[in-house]
Amino acid sequence: MHTSFAGKKIVLGVTGSIAAFKVAGWVSALAKDEARVRVIMTQAATRFVTPLTFAALSGEKVVSDMFADDEGPEISHIELGKDADIILIAPATAHTIARMAHGLADDLLSATVLAARARIIVCPAMNGQMYAHPATQANTARLRELNYQVIEPACGMMACKDEGQGRLPEWEQVREILLRHLSAGDLQGQRILITAGPTREPLDPARFISNRSSGKMGYAMARAAYRRGAEVTLISGPTALPCPEGVRRVSIQTAEEMRTAVLAHFSEATIVLKSAAVADFRPETRYADKVKKDQAELSLGLIANPDILQELGRKKTGQLLVGFAAESGHLLQEGKKKLQKKNLDLIAVNNINQENTGFEVDTNQITLIDRQNVIELPLASKERTADLILDHVITLL
Ligand code: C5P
Repeated sequence: MHTSFAGKKIVLGVTGSIAAFKVAGWVSALAKDEARVRVIMTQAATRFVTPLTFAALSGEKVVSDMFADDEGPEISHIELGKDADIILIAPATAHTIARMAHGLADDLLSATVLAARARIIVCPAMNGQMYAHPATQANTARLRELNYQVIEPACGMMACKDEGQGRLPEWEQVREILLRHLSAGDLQGQRILITAGPTREPLDPARFISNRSSGKMGYAMARAAYRRGAEVTLISGPTALPCPEGVRRVSIQTAEEMRTAVLAHFSEATIVLKSAAVADFRPETRYADKVKKDQAELSLGLIANPDILQELGRKKTGQLLVGFAAESGHLLQEGKKKLQKKNLDLIAVNNINQENTGFEVDTNQITLIDRQNVIELPLASKERTADLILDHVITLL
């Protein structure tokens, strides 16, 4: 499955911290994402994890010795960094950070760093006291002055059982940072308003009406838009998903609350992606106390919620408006009808009766309809689908 990592060359420098074992999982994930990973290990790193582990996971020979006889000139420190898209140093020990801060080049990794022109990203991982030491802090500050990106370690319990700041960050966070560097930045200057997830329409303090939306598609678009340089506001119904890095999230529950939040941010937006599954109806009565079960039956009166997107279609003053439609039949017909009725620039339609697309799953298959074109996107991950939708949005700007 094609991802933004496909064909990119990542040089990974592994140094002698216990967190080296976690990075084996990162190499495996990068290989799955079709990146070309070349691992350089310091001598100390080879005491924690064997080069064979990284070689097997990356499918490439692992190098660590600057003067190894059998390695030949083609993998010198100059060659290793030359065509790299990113050099990632993870885990980076206090010692390696100190050496890089002073421009030392006494092993293959530090020499490669000096010789490379690629973006250098450093993930310190060590005991919290070592990280907090003024010497380490001065060295990381120096790396930032040299325009290296230093990712702050996470807080929590470390291998030595001490609590503190020094843990290797989670792969998902690092992956996003790498993708942001690899992106074309083609949404810079855009302010994108995205809605995601379901709404909840309460009946009483314990119960509500909602739908199966997980928010995954909207969150994937928020991540992709931020990566590509946009300023992103995400108005989200209740979901289990964490707030994406760099994104301003406004949490709401009901369609009415979503309407208020969307209208508050609409005028400043240049693009609106309305992927939320807004409940079309809400209970007529919202009981202050929990409805008791000691009655034979209960009828529920429902009233229509406002159609937020249709209101935006009437109010828009130059914003590019993208709607979403989950349909169970007549996709093209329904999509075209909603494009007209809600005065949209683009609508993304998906078939909720088909397997692997729509609610809850990680993949989607969308048909894009604008005023001129109908484009069938392939069945792909929601991450890839998000990029394909944004690619098309850019052509309409
Ligand atoms: O008409 P339908 O509900 O199928 O349209 C779906 C699109 O309209 C989605 O983009 C959804 O976010 C939006 N919508 C809305 N307010 C509603 C219902 C749907 O903004 N009350």
